[in-house]
Amino acid sequence: MISKTMADALNTHMNFELYSANIYLSMSSAANEMGLKGAATWFMVQYQEEMTHFMKFFNYLVDQGINITLTGSDTVPNNYASLLEMFEKTLTHEQSVTGRINELAELAVKEKDHASQIFLQWFVTEQVEEENNDRDILAKLKLVGNNGHGLLMIDSSLGQRVFVAPAGGAAPFPVA
Ligand code: FEO
Repeated sequence: MISKTMADALNTHMNFELYSANIYLSMSSAANEMGLKGAATWFMVQYQEEMTHFMKFFNYLVDQGINITLTGSDTVPNNYASLLEMFEKTLTHEQSVTGRINELAELAVKEKDHASQIFLQWFVTEQVEEENNDRDILAKLKLVGNNGHGLLMIDSSLGQRVFVAPAGGAAPFPVA
């Protein structure tokens, strides 16, 4: 049993996760255009992760007997001056996601919705990790500045990222 208030709020956030996925898919394309193939891979993996977040909300709402509403994604930006700008925007975006998750967690407490509180805990932890990763990459990018060799080393390191499907069957992609 889930209240309409809680279900509507989760449904809204589910659509925001899809918007997040599209932001990172667009960043992958922008990085590729800059010749930064490693960063393009990193953002593609981020896109895949966001799709798993979207599916976690989808599956939770469906399991609660809700017929979800897909509102579509707003147009996402695709113009960036540098990789540094992309990661600055990434951190800002993730901080906004954290704020939204915290508001959902507070609503779940207010609604005395224990199941949603437990469901949202995974996202509370996930956001700490996401912001931390983004801060680490940003710090490295600031260190190298305009040094091309340093940037290529960071790009190579970003290209090592691999998508790992989360436990719980939320993967929207076939798992090899
Ligand atoms: Fe789904 Fe990056 O938060």
